[in-house]
Parts: sequence; C-alpha cells; structure tokens
Amino acid sequence: MKKSTLLAPPESATLLSQMIQRLPLSDTHFRRISQLIYQRAGIVLADHKREMVYNRLVRRLRTLNIDDFGRYLALLENDQNSAEWQAFINALTTNLTAFFREAHHFPILADHAKRRGGSYNVWSTAASTGEEPYSIAMTLAETLGAGPGKFSVHASDIDTQVLEKASSGIYRQEELRTLSQQQMQRFFLRGTGPHSGMVRVRSELAGMVNFTQLNLLAHEWSLPGPFDAIFCRNVMIYFDKETQEKILRRFVPLLKPGGLLFAGHSENFSQISKEFYLRGQTVYGLTKERS
Ligand SMILES: C[S@@+](CC[C@H](N)C(=O)[O-])C[C@H]1O[C@@H](n2cnc3c(N)ncnc32)[C@H](O)[C@@H]1O
Repeated sequence: MKKSTLLAPPESATLLSQMIQRLPLSDTHFRRISQLIYQRAGIVLADHKREMVYNRLVRRLRTLNIDDFGRYLALLENDQNSAEWQAFINALTTNLTAFFREAHHFPILADHAKRRGGSYNVWSTAASTGEEPYSIAMTLAETLGAGPGKFSVHASDIDTQVLEKASSGIYRQEELRTLSQQQMQRFFLRGTGPHSGMVRVRSELAGMVNFTQLNLLAHEWSLPGPFDAIFCRNVMIYFDKETQEKILRRFVPLLKPGGLLFAGHSENFSQISKEFYLRGQTVYGLTKERS
C-alpha cells in the first residue's frame, strides 16, 4: 500500500498539523514566565519544569488563538488587570490532592479538637479541589457533631478553577476510596441516572466549609482567625525559603494558644522558622509555648 493512501485528506491534515504543531518556547520566554509566576504566586519554576509549563500554557494559547509565546506574554504584560492573569496562574499551579491524604494527621486533629472547648476553627491554606477541607470537616463532625457553632473550616487557594470544583462538592465516586462506608453514607449523596458514578457532599457538611480565594503572597489576608489549627500542606514546596519564612511568620498570630500547624510530608517548618517546633509527625506548635 502506498504511504499516501494512509494519509488523511489534505484539509484535515492541515487542521491536524495546526492543532499539534509545536510552538517554540525560547529560553527568554521560559525565563519571563518563571519571573511572572514567581512575582504573582511565589511559585518557583525549575528548568526541568519547562515541558510541563509548555503543555499547560500552550492550551491557553490555543484557546486564545495565539501562536506565539511572545505574543501571549505581551498580552499579559500590557494589561496588569487582564483576566488572563488568573488563567495564567490557574494553568501553572499543581493541584494534586486526595481525601484523607497524609492520613495520620486526622486522628491528631480529632484528639486536639476533643480536648479544646468552644467552637473549633481551622484554616486550610491551599485547599485545592476541596478534598482536604472536606476531610477536616468530616473528622470534626465525627468528633464534635455537625451542629451550628461546633466548628468551621475556612478553605482558601489562589486558583479560582479548583475553588469552583471545591464549592460544587461534586466528585467521582472512585475518588472516595479512602472513606469508610459510614462516612460515604453520612456525608455524601450518590448521583443517579446520568449522574451515576458521581457523588455530592451533603449540605450539612458543605455548610461547615467556606471557600474563598486567597494568595499566600498577598500583603493582606482577610481571614476569620485566629484558628485552632492551620493546614498548610504541600504548597510551601513550590516556594523558596524566603517566601516560606515570611508566610510562617504571618501564621504565628493566626494560631490560638495551643494551636497546631499541619505540614506536608516533605516540608520541615522548624528548619525554616524558629517560631515553630515539631510536636508530632509533620505537626507543629508555637515555640513560645513549648514547656
Ligand atoms: C499540591 S496542592 C495541595 C493541596 C492540599 N493542601 C493537599 O495537601 O492535598 C497545592 C495547592 O497550592 C495552591 N497554591 C499555589 N500557590 C499558592 C499561593 N501563592 N497562594 C495560595 N495557594 C497557592 C495551588 O493552587 C494548589 O491548589
């Protein structure tokens, strides 16, 4: 069989080649992208992230019908208030998360909540698509009950797209594999008909979690603190030491006396800040309260 007979008709071939044509991403453009995301979100993009950056941003270029990274950057830089800035940030954040991720934190949280009086409040500082704050809320509902005033979870992230998913409270059932049958039944509704295979957080639980956009780099944080516990897990890894130090310093007045700070498995806050000491596996307390 001749090779040409295997080819698609000329018009679709042109369309296909336009769709998959690789756009050049020069060193200068990659450096500029890295500077811009660092300035806006504190995210450090190492050289080995170049392919990932290309794949994520090229989708924006295609959506906007732009065939040159230089033109895309000019579009951003010529208008500091352009809505494209948010899309740029959303494209470059990494949002990997899961229900009850780093499971050892949740019995510690339950035990802490049990021992404290009053309404227990938590800040989930990089909530992503909501699995972390809903896991916190399920733990607290099981420990304290879900009535009004028992607890609240304030959940924030810089990425507006993940916050939309988080607020909807809709997940694929297979994403809930780390939950017990009892938790599934108590906290989720199963979809039926065209929604089968999907679940939605029940309103009793959803009502205890409040989602809002917050950039950890912003000069002002509008927060209903201080908090009994702050979850800052798997976000500091994207920042440099200077940014991490600044953020940790700002957490200090936001923790109530005896409050806990939860970190991700590869983050060591006592190495970065003298204000926090390690109390348990990736759980920190305020050094000034250490006895
Ligand atoms: C890998 S996810 C971690 C999610 C969750 N905390 C966990 O441990 O499963 C990191 C999240 O940090 C968010 N993020 C990155 N830079 C941020 C910033 N400057 N301010 C607030 N959130 C940020 C991202 O949008 C992303 O959703």
